[in-house]
Amino acid sequence: MKYDFEFFDHPLARGKSDSIKWRQYSEDIIPLWIADMDFRACEEITDALVRRAREGCYGYAADSESAIQAMIDYHREHYEIEIAPEWVLPQPGVVTSLNLFCKLLHELRPAASDVFIGEPMYHHFMSAAELQRIRERKIDLQMQGAPLPPLETLDPKGAGGWMFCNPANPLGYTWRENELRDVLTFCHTNNLLLASDEIHGGLVLDAPHAYKPMLSVTQTDAERASVLSFIAPSKTWNVPGLGCAFAIVPDPELRHRFHRSYDQIVPCVNLFGWVGAEAAYRYGEPWRLGVLAYLRRNRDLMEQTAAQWRLPLCRLEATYLAFMDCTELLPYLNNETPAAFFLRHGVAVHDGDIFGKPGWVRINLATQTALLKQAFERMGNAIAALPR
Ligand SMILES: Cc1ncc(COP(=O)(O)O)c(C=O)c1O
Repeated sequence: MKYDFEFFDHPLARGKSDSIKWRQYSEDIIPLWIADMDFRACEEITDALVRRAREGCYGYAADSESAIQAMIDYHREHYEIEIAPEWVLPQPGVVTSLNLFCKLLHELRPAASDVFIGEPMYHHFMSAAELQRIRERKIDLQMQGAPLPPLETLDPKGAGGWMFCNPANPLGYTWRENELRDVLTFCHTNNLLLASDEIHGGLVLDAPHAYKPMLSVTQTDAERASVLSFIAPSKTWNVPGLGCAFAIVPDPELRHRFHRSYDQIVPCVNLFGWVGAEAAYRYGEPWRLGVLAYLRRNRDLMEQTAAQWRLPLCRLEATYLAFMDCTELLPYLNNETPAAFFLRHGVAVHDGDIFGKPGWVRINLATQTALLKQAFERMGNAIAALPR
């Protein structure tokens, strides 16, 4: 199968399937909100799922050693990191792991459980802290250039952890090795547990193998002992509906505590999750490289369009989620948010408010270029009609 522009240009009949993205709004709305792609899946994944479905056996699935090995091999080959099989705790999703991390902080560090979160940030970081009853320590991220403030300005007193997003959603930023080292050193020095959500690792647009796992910058067992990494094939190969992710926890005691906190509460990965993950890691590289090329084209279109609209955009180095500053439109919107304004004109985008940036919008670019152009035309006409 050739994963070229023609392949990704082919629309899916998503409206007819049980898709959150396509069912949330009426049919006349173009949905560019939740992080889910509109592309046909990698054929190698579909073939593996169909083969397994045809076996006609849907009993309890054992954790798949071969899928775990495929994930380990993929990370060694592309990101030069050696993950030991015993470090791996299968998870049904990364949001589950984020919540479990906060729950663990609450249990392990009752007197000092605050968690650092750089904002703007994927909203389930903040909701996990809130749901698990720990306090967020907000770090204001810069929207252009290096996002973090000097770390010596952060006060670690009363804090027990940091939830980090590598690469960052919604900033679209690919962290440099020295920045990862700085965060790691800050956490290690101040005895903070560091959870690194790396679900977007496979989606670095310009340099497909430039993502650096947080664990790859650790140098000692002691540094590794403070890190939990959450990875998944779900964003990269667009298989979030299959529900397969991994918490990588090198420290045996921490791993034991983490596992005990959810054992018999959180369900195992289902058998199709295993099959999809293994096929993605073993055979999905051509599809991934193809989708990155397509996303680069959509990003270029987004950049040209935002420049025409005279609205600032974060530089999208990774992910397919563009983050655009619409605060300049606010005086003309009669108290409507930019997201509500665009929805009224036929395009659903995510409101930046939920990520900690009111007045901004997050736009999902992972759709057919033709549909994206149609959405941009609607948004552009709406902007042009404002008395700016
Ligand atoms: C940074 C980040 N983490 C986690 C998730 C969701 O993970 P899951 O579907 O595995 O719970 C997303 C989805 O967009 C995300 O952007």
